[in-house]
Amino acid sequence: MMYSDKVLDHFQNPRNVGEIEDANAVGLVGNAKCGDIMQMFMKIEDDKIVDVKFKTFGCGAAVATSSMATELVLGKTIDEALQLTNRAVMEALDGLPPVKVHCSVLAEQAIRAAISDYYKRQGIDPEPIVGKIEEVDHDHEIACD
Ligand code: FES
Repeated sequence: MMYSDKVLDHFQNPRNVGEIEDANAVGLVGNAKCGDIMQMFMKIEDDKIVDVKFKTFGCGAAVATSSMATELVLGKTIDEALQLTNRAVMEALDGLPPVKVHCSVLAEQAIRAAISDYYKRQGIDPEPIVGKIEEVDHDHEIACD
C-alpha cells in the first residue's frame, strides 16, 4: 500500500477546504516542478489562528497534507504555526512516499506565506520572522473544487 489510511482519509474527506472571505492572512505558493499551487486563508485574532481554510490545484498528497496542516494550526498561535514543519505534517499522516515529500513542503510554505501576508498588511517586514518564501503571483486565480 503506497498511502497510509490517514493520507487516503484526508484526501477523500479534506478538512477546511474553501475560502475565508474576511481573512486577514492569505498566502499562495506553488511548486515549479509539478506546477501545483496552494492557497491558504487565515483569520488571525490576538496572535491566534481562529480560522483557516485552503484551496489547492494539486495532487492528492497536496490535498491531504494541507488538510492535515490546517487541522494542526487551527487554534494555535502564530509562533506555534511557524514551528510546524512538513515533517510533522507527514508524521501526523503516518508518512508519505518519498516522491511525495515535496507536496508536504507546499503545505508548510502555504502556512508561512499566509502568516507573511498577515505581517505585510500591518506594514511589518515578515522576512526576519517568517523567512524567505517563494510566493506565486497573487493575481493568479485557482480553479479548485
Ligand atoms: Fe506537486 Fe504533489 S505532485 S504537490
